[in-house]
Amino acid sequence: MRVREAAKRIAIGAVLLAAVGMTAEAKTKVTSQPFGKLPAGTPVEIYTLSDGAYEARIATYGGIVVSLKTPDRNGKSADVVLGFDDVDGYVANFNGLSDAYFGAIIGRYANRIAHGSFTLDGQKYSLPKNNGENTLHGGPHGFNNIVWKAKPVVNGVELRYRSKDGEAGFPGNLTATVRYTLVKGDLRIEYSATTDKTTVVNLTNHSYFNLAGQGDILKHELTLHASRFTPVDAGLIPTGQWKAVESTPFDFRKPTAVGARINSDDTQLHLGRGYDHNWVLDSKSGQLAEAAEVYDPSSGRVLKVLTDQPGIQFYSGNFLDGSIKGKGGTPDVLHAALCLETQHFPDSPNHPDFPSTELKPGERYHTVTIYSFSTR
Ligand code: GLA
Repeated sequence: MRVREAAKRIAIGAVLLAAVGMTAEAKTKVTSQPFGKLPAGTPVEIYTLSDGAYEARIATYGGIVVSLKTPDRNGKSADVVLGFDDVDGYVANFNGLSDAYFGAIIGRYANRIAHGSFTLDGQKYSLPKNNGENTLHGGPHGFNNIVWKAKPVVNGVELRYRSKDGEAGFPGNLTATVRYTLVKGDLRIEYSATTDKTTVVNLTNHSYFNLAGQGDILKHELTLHASRFTPVDAGLIPTGQWKAVESTPFDFRKPTAVGARINSDDTQLHLGRGYDHNWVLDSKSGQLAEAAEVYDPSSGRVLKVLTDQPGIQFYSGNFLDGSIKGKGGTPDVLHAALCLETQHFPDSPNHPDFPSTELKPGERYHTVTIYSFSTR
């Protein structure tokens, strides 16, 4: 009897603790409001996640991180991501062909698939091409260009999309969930997916960061915890090599200004028009670990990127040329921002020795990336 009573008390205590824990956890204010409509009339919502000095706004169109406000070392707030003021800006920029993908969720397959083709379980699949001979970021009808179903969750928003079997050329009905939460300066992105047919999946977020909130990122100091990278050919498709960064302009194992070596006479830099490569992370794949750090000496802002993914695409905004007018009509100049896209390696479905991106029925794709902001 006494034992049962004690057990009951413990159980009640646990329930109470869980309840308290839940309320204690909900630190961030989450609100939503209309963010315009797509040309076809589909309404788009925008979720605002605010936690004191930090604020993230996420659109249901493309799951786009529209703005991300963080304080500098003096407490002055700035928006540290590129984008547009309204949904019309994103729609106008989107053309399905090598778009800028500002802030968007990328799927089903982040980065390139050579010749838009791969073989899975003995069957050949062909994808629409949108980057010369190749398919980039899920092709012309990727996850960046759909309206996700959204619901508020503790400290954030959860987005859901069901991509049909054969959509954008990929096999299997794929149910994808992306959960954004913001707690203190940590923007956490949790991606999940299940399928009913063997498929490939590689999701990421394509935010363009500028920790100064203006100008270019050439003086941002970057650290990448990676001893190797995957060199590319002229179409930016990996050659299959895992090359040591040692003694190359790709060695960011110690903090180095992005612009310090970007114009070096290096074949890989010429091919990428700057940095646009996948680094092989030193951490054990599947375990959340720090992959990168960016420090802006002018504002004191620090961005740490944590992920459980095996790779990270560091893209130095090489295709920005001032032709895109972003927020407030400001032209997005060359190297106006950098992307750190946590991912599986580009073109993995055609490289059996790269970590596999296959997802089978009954399995769950699940990965976490945290963009963690602070100052120094
Ligand atoms: C990725 C690619 C780049 C470029 C951008 C979007 O980072 O690797 O080549 O296409 O996306 O413009």
